[in-house]
Amino acid sequence: MSEAVFDEQAVVQTVQQGLQALLDAQSTDELHALRTQYAGAQSELTRASKMIGSLPNDQKKTVGKIVGQLRADFGRAYALREQELIHLEEQQKLESETVDVTLPVNNHLGARHPLTVLMEEIQDFFISRGWQVSDGPEVETEWYNFDALNFGPDHPARQMQDTFYVKGDKSRDAAGFVGSNMVMRTQTSSDQVRALITTGVPLYIVCTGRVFRTDELDATHTPVFHQCEALAVDKHLTMADLKGTLDALAVAMFGPEAKTRLRPSYFPFTEPSAEMDLWFPDKKGGAGWVEWGGCGMVHPNVLRSAGIDPDEYTGFAFGVGVERTLLFRHDINDMHDLVEGDIRFSKQFTMGR
Ligand code: FA5
Ligand code: MG
Repeated sequence: MSEAVFDEQAVVQTVQQGLQALLDAQSTDELHALRTQYAGAQSELTRASKMIGSLPNDQKKTVGKIVGQLRADFGRAYALREQELIHLEEQQKLESETVDVTLPVNNHLGARHPLTVLMEEIQDFFISRGWQVSDGPEVETEWYNFDALNFGPDHPARQMQDTFYVKGDKSRDAAGFVGSNMVMRTQTSSDQVRALITTGVPLYIVCTGRVFRTDELDATHTPVFHQCEALAVDKHLTMADLKGTLDALAVAMFGPEAKTRLRPSYFPFTEPSAEMDLWFPDKKGGAGWVEWGGCGMVHPNVLRSAGIDPDEYTGFAFGVGVERTLLFRHDINDMHDLVEGDIRFSKQFTMGR
């Protein structure tokens, strides 16, 4: 067996090369590779360590000391450079991810939908006259949406407003209408008997909100739209009170010259009933008469549904389309603009609000 020879000069030279390489390293990845190269299992240094055992006894101690010293030097230099490079890499990362707060900002703040703003405006009109704001559920019992409003069980008028029935679920209504089918309310009139039962008479309420019908979306219709319902029940109310309230609302919405007219019509829950048309001067010098909503004197059977004596109390009610109000008022030609929710559209109406 040939005797092991420790070539001190070669080992020292290699380690010095390694130390220089550590200083030149530009990344921690590079540094890790250098550790494998100069101090790993296959390195000159490790080979020298392994050799010590087979050296003549008189050399073991000296060589052990030299190799130990070299390994310690390399280890220290490695740790130092590693700290520097970690710091440097952090710095570079921070710089590359810096947000320039001096750049101009694209400030995409939201805007309230014009329908929401309009419904509040309508509510304000009624509040200023001493009425109360009422609010019924959108998923409603068939009872409140139809039966209580004097639609007979097989009344063809149930198809008048094409209804979304809600599958399966029957009501467990606290008021005792157990087992009624559930529908998406087709009209805010569904809140009439609810309010009469829960609040009682005299009653002056406005209910604005979403209603649902199986209508196709086109320029003037949408399957989900909004209505504003007004209901007044008191002693001695007449059709004159209805007409006066409608005209006042028309003026509030469309300016001092706006007016309404009634055309005889039919709703199961009012008698007499009327379609209500609106006229207002628009920019073109007169928009002509346009259908705005339905109205009438509350049918005695509706009052009876709520346990109110129709000989003592009378009432009037009307319902107007909120989308239609907005389309008329701002001369918008297409319902699509209202339902698409494009913020650029909404912003035109909500400046400063
Ligand atoms: C009703 O819904 C009755 N509840 C109104 C009423 C209330 C009568 C109180 C008597 C007493 P009608 O189905 O006509 O009526 O709808 C009223 C208004 O809602 C319409 O004049 C129109 O302005 C609006 N409207 C109806 N269908 C749509 C639709 N698909 N899209 C947008 N607006 C609609
Ligand atoms: Mg109608």
